[in-house]
Amino acid sequence: MVRLGGGVSFLDNVRRSPVDIVFNIAEGRGSYRSREAQVPAVLEMLGIPYTGSDPLALAIGLDKPLTKRLAATDGVRTPGWCVVGSTVELSEEPWQGLKFPLIIKPAYEGSSKGIRLTSLAGSAREVEAKARRILEDYRQPVMVEEFIDGDEVTVGMVGNAPPRVVGIMRVLPRKPTEHFIYSLEVKKDYVNLVDYECPAQLAEGVLREIEVFSLKVFRLLGCRDFSRLDFRVGPDGRAYFLEINPLPGLGSYSDLVIMALKVGWTYEGLINAVLEAAVGRYPQCAGRLP
Ligand SMILES: Nc1ncnc2c1ncn2[C@@H]1O[C@H](COP(=O)(O)OP(=O)(O)OP(=O)(O)O)[C@@H](O)[C@H]1O
Ligand SMILES: [Mg+2]
Repeated sequence: MVRLGGGVSFLDNVRRSPVDIVFNIAEGRGSYRSREAQVPAVLEMLGIPYTGSDPLALAIGLDKPLTKRLAATDGVRTPGWCVVGSTVELSEEPWQGLKFPLIIKPAYEGSSKGIRLTSLAGSAREVEAKARRILEDYRQPVMVEEFIDGDEVTVGMVGNAPPRVVGIMRVLPRKPTEHFIYSLEVKKDYVNLVDYECPAQLAEGVLREIEVFSLKVFRLLGCRDFSRLDFRVGPDGRAYFLEINPLPGLGSYSDLVIMALKVGWTYEGLINAVLEAAVGRYPQCAGRLP
């Protein structure tokens, strides 16, 4: 096993070290929406096998509005939204017609970057101020989205043909919270602030819908090996797709790992399942796993 690092040292190391397969966890450099595609693109150019999704799926997955647009065309329910690309567009108030409250988030981020307890807006003035702030701070478009006030659900998927659902996990605030947001503040202090329930104790119908939507989005983007998808369940009892993470975190604190352990996997079992799924598409790797 050799660590390849990131950025320029990755380029040096990958040329120097003969590797059978790369276990990719690289989020890429810069704030480009295609940053997660950087490492897989290099590996494809060099003909080196790697785990996880290809550059296209990773690039699309980081662009939330584009992913939602694609998902919606395939019948996946997603909250109403609009995109504000620049401060000039703020005066057009493209959020007119959306149902308040609205949540304001950067269009190309993950790990709740830019999503805070204060991300909700109850009036046009608030939307404008918060969107302006994100445009300035993150130098990328802003997504203004209808806030679905209901259960927070995340879904882990592993494998291919067909990918299987590891679990559907509900994230519950420990203290009763009006307008719960699984924000940066909450993710940092998850040990004290939330409980994780997996399998989620939700109605059979909505669980089924979440599973169908997850499979659709996974396939639509051409995801591979693993992914994690976020949903909210609305007051109407229906599932609303928020986003997919084709390169979900694998740290011990990450939702996919927490969920896998809760349904009886081991950490090693999860990593091996991802690796085995990847190895299956490279004949040259057959029989070479330890
Ligand atoms: N439309 C919405 N309705 C309700 N809650 C929302 C909505 N959009 C975002 N949230 C809340 O904000 C959290 C983070 O949003 P989102 O999943 O889009 O961001 P992220 O930074 O990409 O997350 P991750 O850490 O999973 O990469 C959600 O898990 C949810 O709690
Ligand atoms: Mg998320």
